[in-house]
Amino acid sequence: MNIKIAPSILSADFSDMGGAIKKLNAAGADVIHCDVMDGSFVEPITFGGQMVKNIRSLTSLPLDVHLMIEHPKTQIKFFAEAGADIITVHYEACAKISPSYLCETLELIKSFGVKCGVVVNPDTDVEKVFDVFELCDMVLIMSVFPGYGGQKFIPTALEQVKKAREYARRIGKGDMDIEIDGGVTVENCAAIKEAGANVLVAGSTVFKSKDMAATIAALKA
Ligand code: DX5
Ligand code: ZN
Repeated sequence: MNIKIAPSILSADFSDMGGAIKKLNAAGADVIHCDVMDGSFVEPITFGGQMVKNIRSLTSLPLDVHLMIEHPKTQIKFFAEAGADIITVHYEACAKISPSYLCETLELIKSFGVKCGVVVNPDTDVEKVFDVFELCDMVLIMSVFPGYGGQKFIPTALEQVKKAREYARRIGKGDMDIEIDGGVTVENCAAIKEAGANVLVAGSTVFKSKDMAATIAALKA
């Protein structure tokens, strides 16, 4: 499988986002992971569509927008128009609204010609979203509880990744992107890839390293 490294700009210096994007372009990042937080689904607030729009003008790398927000349907338009390549929404935020909300949101994302994906928290069994795999371009397995960078990897996420990859194969989508997010390091990335994830988000590991290019290469190898 094609392994892609998706540095999370959550760990960047927000006062120099342009500089961070330029560094990521030069360091061999495959995707730029944009963590959108609303202060309600998760405690912090990060940024909205304007930031994604500004980043869009600085890179041709795919922009992977991870929405950690309530009522995601209301915000899809803004991120799609800002130039997101893929937008992922949390199962947990959708399920509390209505049983059909997740499907409707994924369809809405697709209607803008943008790829879509579903995210599950560490305590949500990935089986709960098997019914939308058909609709999704990617499934994101959280390996920390969303909200903050720099947390420790929760090992049960590996089981979730395995289950997701097996189910994707079973429905004839064996090459589907399966992304993992939270606590990814050079030390644990081999086990993560072995379990079947091919898109690795890495925030602090990339931004705290002295040599971004070498760290991205090590995560990818
Ligand atoms: C957590 C975010 C992650 C975060 C990962 O809520 O979704 O993308 O930036 O950061 P690290 O890699 O430091 O765990
Ligand atoms: Zn994220």
